[in-house]
Amino acid sequence: MKGRSLLVLSIALAALPAAFAQTPLNPGQIQPVTYKVVDGNKVDNGTLLGWRTWRALACERCHGAQQEGLVGPSLVDAFKTLDKNEFHRTVFGGRVDKGMPDFSSSQMMQKNWESLYAYLKGRSDGKIKPGDLQAMDVK
Ligand code: HEC
Repeated sequence: MKGRSLLVLSIALAALPAAFAQTPLNPGQIQPVTYKVVDGNKVDNGTLLGWRTWRALACERCHGAQQEGLVGPSLVDAFKTLDKNEFHRTVFGGRVDKGMPDFSSSQMMQKNWESLYAYLKGRSDGKIKPGDLQAMDVK
């Protein structure tokens, strides 16, 4: 009995930081915008890094230059519903049996996956235009 309530307590405590770290992930809640964009092609530095990661890892080989889908599915569509956790699971581990490579050994992906998520979200929202981007705070 005593052992059991201790167990419940430690599970609750273990879940606590995760709940804080993942506030945007409640389904049904509006997710805060994690990218900034002006004129469709000027973005914050994080999002710019996300776009560079997309280019460097050549995701367009399979998902299309405009994320419209090719041999891989359209990410414009996928990002209407794909949350950050699911995105993380897909790029780190991949779905190798279905043709989606595992990018977990890529340092660029390790560093920039959240920025890449933001970039693709912006593309899916229709706020970021396809094609080249520039930093918005360059004068
Ligand atoms: C060699 C081809 C290929 C490359 C390169 C590739 N993908 Fe994929 N990707 C796929 C395929 C095929 C699927 C569909 C897998 C399935 O059926 O579940 C997929 C699925 C995905 C999904 C899940 C979509 C959904 O609807 O759930 C995401 C997200 C994704 N890819 C992102 C990326 C990103 C980001 C990159 C670049 C870092 C990338 N992919 C590079 C082939 C590729």
